[in-house]
Amino acid sequence: MNNKIKPCVIGLGYVGLPLFLRLQTKYFSIGFDNDKSRIKNLLKKIDTNKEFKKQNLFLKNRSIFSSNKSVLKKSNFFIVTVPTPVTKNNKPDISFLKNASILIAKNLKKGDIIIFESTVYPSTTNFLIKHYLNKFSNLIEGVHYFVGYSPERVNPGDGKHTISKIKKILAIPGNSQIKKKVKSVYKHVSKKLILTNSIESAETAKVIENIQRDLNIAFINEILLFTDKMKYNFNEILRLASSKWNFLNFKPGLVGGHCLPVDPHYLNYIARLNKMKLRTLIAGRDVNNSMQKFVSRKIEEKIILIRKEKKIEPKVLICGLTYKKNVSDVRNSLSLKIFVNLRKKYKNIFGYDNVCEDKISSKFKIQRNIEMIKDSFDLVVFLVDHKKNKSLYDYFKRQKKIIIDPLKLYK
Ligand SMILES: NC(=O)c1ccc[n+]([C@@H]2O[C@H](COP(=O)([O-])OP(=O)(O)OC[C@H]3O[C@@H](n4cnc5c(N)ncnc54)[C@H](O)[C@@H]3O)[C@@H](O)[C@H]2O)c1
Repeated sequence: MNNKIKPCVIGLGYVGLPLFLRLQTKYFSIGFDNDKSRIKNLLKKIDTNKEFKKQNLFLKNRSIFSSNKSVLKKSNFFIVTVPTPVTKNNKPDISFLKNASILIAKNLKKGDIIIFESTVYPSTTNFLIKHYLNKFSNLIEGVHYFVGYSPERVNPGDGKHTISKIKKILAIPGNSQIKKKVKSVYKHVSKKLILTNSIESAETAKVIENIQRDLNIAFINEILLFTDKMKYNFNEILRLASSKWNFLNFKPGLVGGHCLPVDPHYLNYIARLNKMKLRTLIAGRDVNNSMQKFVSRKIEEKIILIRKEKKIEPKVLICGLTYKKNVSDVRNSLSLKIFVNLRKKYKNIFGYDNVCEDKISSKFKIQRNIEMIKDSFDLVVFLVDHKKNKSLYDYFKRQKKIIIDPLKLYK
């Protein structure tokens, strides 16, 4: 056990918790979250995000979970993993980062190191240093304490690309002693570190990784809209096109979550501050958001048709309501929005998702088990391909139920 470095992870969500669990294998580590209920659950070995099972949530090396600010005093190596959402008008909301920076500043000592991991627009880290860290600590960055940036690539629901197995970018502009110290910590986090001296490069690299994915999905979503309009066979077209060696196999989808719908707005914000408009990113966002309307229209057309033909108010089941497959997270979930809006308009709309958080299923009255009632539906819609949904799809197919799979999840 290394007694000198005492890491403190600030924000124990999808990003912070796996990081903390890696660090505590080597160091006495502090897991700090200002959400008391999160800490209460973690102490009971419950991860409401459902990324970790009970047996993986035990504390090692006398490490602690706490929501008490005083624990920050014990640390000399702060890692910040707090949320960075957008406001209603798609402006970056960095208030969580500001609050975390003030909190750290008030507990900062000479020689301490701070690494930001939250996704930001380029130049945010320097902004935080200047306006919060230096100001509230009365210390000077680069002289008395040191700041680095290491964007996170964790992919919830993906058991293959876990934190220890992926390459991690690490920007440390400090002197060689600081670089050595930070590297010695992060080598216990990820398989391979990709080093840079430039914080802005690392900040920009992180957002463009996600924006590239958002744009690729937007392109294939738009092709889906086009083939639907033309009544062409989307899957056949993709089969043909993907026979070319450099055709990228992206799938259509309802893009949601905390990253892809947010990061283009972060980059666009700083571009606009510098009197530049990033046109492709915003076009991509528009296309991906328009999928909500496309999918809702498909469902409504079918409801109206069944009503007309069978003279009934069809009982509709919508399967998959989180923002992507095999995750419990519903932040910016378009399938959840589709479900909630349809329920306002039609009588017999039911949602099914056995992966989403328990508090979400009770809030939105989402079914977690439909075994007993599954034969009662007139129309079944698949919006997210959770592992467990495939057998359900096969069942309904065998039963010759009317199925809508507007995103071609199951071809
Ligand atoms: N979720 C992902 O898949 C993912 C992937 C890569 C990067 N990121 C980025 O990582 C960052 C964190 O995302 P997340 O999904 O883990 O968020 P999250 O909401 O799951 O977790 C953030 C945690 O921080 C806590 N928190 C907020 N303010 C705090 C404060 N001042 N002090 C202590 N705790 C505080 C919250 O209570 C919450 O538990 C974001 O910038 C996000 O863009 C997320």
